[in-house]
Amino acid sequence: MYRNPTLFLIVAILAFSVGSVVSTAVPFFLKSTVPPLAGGAIQPYTPLQLEGRDLYIREGCNNCHTQTVRPLYSEVLRYGPYSRAAEFEYDRPHLWGSRRTGPDLARIGGKYPDGWHTRHLVDPQAIVPGSTMPPFPWLANRPLDAAHTAKKMAVLHLPVQANEMAALNGKTELDALVAYLQVLGTAIAQPAVTAPANLTNPYTGNAAILSEGESLFMENCAGCHGIEMKGDAGTGITGAQLIDKNNGDEADIVTTAWEGLEGAMPSFGPQLGADRLWKIANYITSR
Ligand code: HEC
Ligand code: HEC
Repeated sequence: MYRNPTLFLIVAILAFSVGSVVSTAVPFFLKSTVPPLAGGAIQPYTPLQLEGRDLYIREGCNNCHTQTVRPLYSEVLRYGPYSRAAEFEYDRPHLWGSRRTGPDLARIGGKYPDGWHTRHLVDPQAIVPGSTMPPFPWLANRPLDAAHTAKKMAVLHLPVQANEMAALNGKTELDALVAYLQVLGTAIAQPAVTAPANLTNPYTGNAAILSEGESLFMENCAGCHGIEMKGDAGTGITGAQLIDKNNGDEADIVTTAWEGLEGAMPSFGPQLGADRLWKIANYITSR
């Protein structure tokens, strides 16, 4: 066989093909390749979310954002639980992406209130200073084109419900995109973040850290709470208008910001760490 190149080639191709079929094609049909999610099955997209997904593709969001958290310690720390195969059941095609000019969005659902997304998509720099994300202002003015929604749902085997179809009426493209972002990653429960107990302020009376605290506040908090901490009227994020610096001390601010508030404010503890949060808290109470 070794002396006959043609025969060798044919046998080699056969051997590789069998190997490929066994290792790639067979797992497609095995249930064990896709273990079920702990919290039950993933919910199919609603018509509004599906339209949002199509807009995500049309606007090229996937050129800058990935949608998969790899099972690496640093990624899990930053984005939350790593992605499971079953989470992508209704994603055809999947939008895992390969470039992270912006952060991963696989667990973005519920991280921010809707108002944050509407403002950020229309004008990212207004809410995240220095952001390199382009603005998408036209989304807010364009009514949703629902002419093909029912057909798309059928092709993807998504259940079509009359009330959900009716809910598309009067919606803009922006509404659809936000609805889609808010469902991403929510099939897996995010572990609750708890701040350490018995926090003591390491910077009491230390004026030297206040300017660092100020810039950290501007980067991380001002987008929702406003640069004056009174919420500039434009934030439009209910409840974020005022950080009440008289209602509690620095430790309360650190604890609240560390743990976040569900559906309103992300948990900053894992991302910023204790030292930066203390600097921000001291800046807030110094004002
Ligand atoms: C040119 C690259 C680029 C494109 C295109 C882009 N983004 Fe971004 N995006 C970024 C960068 C950089 C950030 C981080 C700064 C910020 O939050 O604005 C970001 C942040 C975000 C965040 C906040 C993530 C977080 O965890 O704080 C969301 C949500 C988001 N983008 C959604 C979108 C959507 C939806 C689209 C498409 C309509 C889009 N992006 C298109 C670069 C991009
Ligand atoms: C995505 C928007 C958003 C961001 C970013 C944000 N917050 Fe909040 N925060 C809110 C909202 C909304 C509330 C009010 C929630 C409520 O009252 O139900 C709130 C409430 C608070 C409270 C408790 C209310 C009070 O008056 O004491 C504190 C403290 C706080 N935020 C601190 C911070 C700090 C510090 C940062 C930056 C590290 C930050 N927040 C970033 C949205 C945000």
